[in-house]
Amino acid sequence: MNLLLTGGAGYVGSACLRWLLQRGHNAIAYDNLSTGNAQAVPAHRLIQGDIADGDALRKAMRDHEIDAVMHFAALASVPDSIDDPESYYRVNIEGTKCVLDAMRDTNVSRIVFSSTAATYGFHTEMPLTEDTPQTPQVPYGSTKLAAEWLIKDYARAYGMGCALLRYFNAAGADADGLHGECRSHESHLIPLTLAVAVGRREKLLIYGNDYDTRDGTCVRDYVHVADLAQAHELAMHKLDPGTTLAYNLGCGEGTTVLEVLRACEAVVGRPIAHEFVDRRPGDPDVLVASPDTIMKELNWTPQFVSINSIVETAWRWHQSHPDGYSTSTIPAEAENR
Ligand SMILES: NC(=O)c1ccc[n+]([C@@H]2O[C@H](COP(=O)([O-])OP(=O)(O)OC[C@H]3O[C@@H](n4cnc5c(N)ncnc54)[C@H](O)[C@@H]3O)[C@@H](O)[C@H]2O)c1
Repeated sequence: MNLLLTGGAGYVGSACLRWLLQRGHNAIAYDNLSTGNAQAVPAHRLIQGDIADGDALRKAMRDHEIDAVMHFAALASVPDSIDDPESYYRVNIEGTKCVLDAMRDTNVSRIVFSSTAATYGFHTEMPLTEDTPQTPQVPYGSTKLAAEWLIKDYARAYGMGCALLRYFNAAGADADGLHGECRSHESHLIPLTLAVAVGRREKLLIYGNDYDTRDGTCVRDYVHVADLAQAHELAMHKLDPGTTLAYNLGCGEGTTVLEVLRACEAVVGRPIAHEFVDRRPGDPDVLVASPDTIMKELNWTPQFVSINSIVETAWRWHQSHPDGYSTSTIPAEAENR
């Protein structure tokens, strides 16, 4: 199949792109490189463009005879969305509408969308199923939920097939250590922790130790990017015109911030400096997925089910690329894939 991946040079998008190429699909990244990395995808598979640019999107879809879109492009930081909601409403909702309109104009009728656990908001009953009410508490979650609604309405009215994949915490790196999580402005726990281990940061800040959890730090559900990529491919094959699929994507296991820190220390083999600071706004105590629906309906089988196995892959990447993609050790043959 010919696939266009908006945000395909980002962390999750580029992992999916590599997964799809390895399985014989023709995948192209469409990305404005605002947080993504050109080095994360082969040069001939990257179109640099913004999802707000409908003409460029239409051209990319026509030129590459696109069959389906995977829509990863978004702004995706909870704290930033609280400080600057305007850009989140613009990119995550208006941008999604632009992608959908370009798809309609070029008769592309399948879309897999990167949604998020943040659309659920704060709940006490865990794990979260697809039937848990979506009551987002921060602009990031609200804008992603609004994008879900847009996509569902377009799918129903215009005969598209859509899959809404609600990821919990994406984590880990490619097993070969050549690609991994790399952002200039990082806010995710595992890369921040391992950045301390490689000496790029002085210490890890842990936001709050008075949550209602077993050790007082927030509980999250970590899912490996390769397992997310597998889910995208399975969902794409399942898309029929006019249908909506929605799946939670986590491993169903909750891990506290302190447990992630201990897992990183075990993998690295030494203590990692950290400090407890005040809570951040917008962080629920616990977010754990029930992945039962996607496991049953699509036979999704995650390969990385322990936090240690996820951290091991991330550590391989951080060790070999302490400065991210600017540590240029990607062999030429990997560029040609
Ligand atoms: N990382 C996670 O844990 C996680 C969890 C839940 C959902 N998600 C969702 O998954 C998707 C990918 O997340 P990620 O962690 O890879 O983030 P990322 O920042 O690494 O990737 C996003 C990509 O989108 C691109 N982009 C942003 N705005 C754009 C625009 N206007 N036009 C074109 N490209 C644009 C960026 O340059 C980047 O390459 C996002 O939609 C995010 O909301 C991520």
